[in-house]
Amino acid sequence: MRQYNGPFLQQSETLYLTAKDVLNLVHRRVMDRSRYFGVPARRNPLDAWVYQEMICELRPDVIIEIGSYRGAGTLQFAHLLDVLGHGIVIGIDKNQTLTADVVRAHPRVTLLEGDACRLIDTVIRLIPLRSRCLIVEDSSHTYENTLNVLRTFSPLVSHGSYFVVEDGVGGGHGLSLGPRPGVYEAIDTFLMEDGSFVPDRSRESFFLTWNPSGYLKRVSGGRSYYKPPRVQRRFPSAGDVVRAVTPPVLLQAAVRFRRRMKTRVRRHRRGEEGRGE
Ligand SMILES: C[S@@+](CC[C@H](N)C(=O)[O-])C[C@H]1O[C@@H](n2cnc3c(N)ncnc32)[C@H](O)[C@@H]1O
Repeated sequence: MRQYNGPFLQQSETLYLTAKDVLNLVHRRVMDRSRYFGVPARRNPLDAWVYQEMICELRPDVIIEIGSYRGAGTLQFAHLLDVLGHGIVIGIDKNQTLTADVVRAHPRVTLLEGDACRLIDTVIRLIPLRSRCLIVEDSSHTYENTLNVLRTFSPLVSHGSYFVVEDGVGGGHGLSLGPRPGVYEAIDTFLMEDGSFVPDRSRESFFLTWNPSGYLKRVSGGRSYYKPPRVQRRFPSAGDVVRAVTPPVLLQAAVRFRRRMKTRVRRHRRGEEGRGE
């Protein structure tokens, strides 16, 4: 492992660095020797702090990290969920051989190996129904893969939660390394296609973020994986009891059946019945 040997500037010099200089210096420091619990970590510590704030606010049931590398980020999420006493982390990487033992051993962590988009069905099976889901994408950073990941995984993000896309800072948006078009441009394309997400710029208020326009908040839509809690009732409703005792497979079948019936009724009303599906 290389050691970081500076530059160590005088305080009077550091005060005159530009934000771009600082981004580059922090990047070098992270790549050279950043660790989380001894595990090499490739994340801007200011963004890692923002994740802590988000997790505390959102209290997610499931966090998915796409591109887990050695597992530092995955472990940090698991530790935060430990403090909250709830939730699981799914760490995905095309190569899990480098993952640290301390990450593998954590009871909240499930690791999946392979190309993220090809694993979507496995991921869906791991997410309990109505879970509040937060996703962090930190994998290849190419334009095509980032867009593909956004399109594939965005239906899992619950209303009010986030799809964080890491490293839009590359490709000349602060750091010169990385492809262009890359992450930043993929986010742009995705936001033009899908109006249910907006970049929450308030999450960039430390300014030195690696995720410019990358804190994507779901403001509308969202699949049945999560439903915002209704006003607290003293007793469970009949619906709650039925949902609690019915196996998930049956519940999903019922939801599908209901959706089909609704479509039929709508079509019938429009006089379209019989014109084919
Ligand atoms: C920047 S590192 C991730 C750093 C990590 N999140 C951390 O906090 O330390 C990127 C990782 O993405 C993985 N990766 C690249 N393309 C991928 C893909 N299509 N599917 C899954 N993982 C991928 C790489 O193997 C690599 O380990």
